[in-house]
Amino acid sequence: MSGVLDPDSGVTYEEFEGTLDTISVAGSETTATLLSGLTYLLLTNPDKMATVCSEVRDKFSSAEQIDSIGIIRVSMGVGHGH
Ligand code: HEM
Repeated sequence: MSGVLDPDSGVTYEEFEGTLDTISVAGSETTATLLSGLTYLLLTNPDKMATVCSEVRDKFSSAEQIDSIGIIRVSMGVGHGH
């Protein structure tokens, strides 16, 4: 990672490296925990799984539409996936 930091940024390499460590830990364990918990809860509650399936199929007409742009569009209420 050395060489990525702009020498004029005023950020030391130690600060930069510490920020990467923070983002890696903050972003990975939280997301993994959410996904495993959500998967468990959906698989053990078929009625909730059916609701989620029906909402996803209502908003998107193909798997290709389900990407970050499509999800932002749907969550902002600006139509279906692109
Ligand atoms: C489901 C996923 C996530 C959950 C539940 C979650 C939860 C939280 C919570 C509760 C805080 C506040 C902690 C506090 O101040 O007491 C926080 C802060 C933070 N999260 Fe997340 N987070 C998630 C995903 C992510 C991701 C994906 C990233 C980065 C790639 C991230 C980076 C951070 C950072 C850097 C902070 C500190 C912000 C600050 O105070 O300056 N988090 N997160």
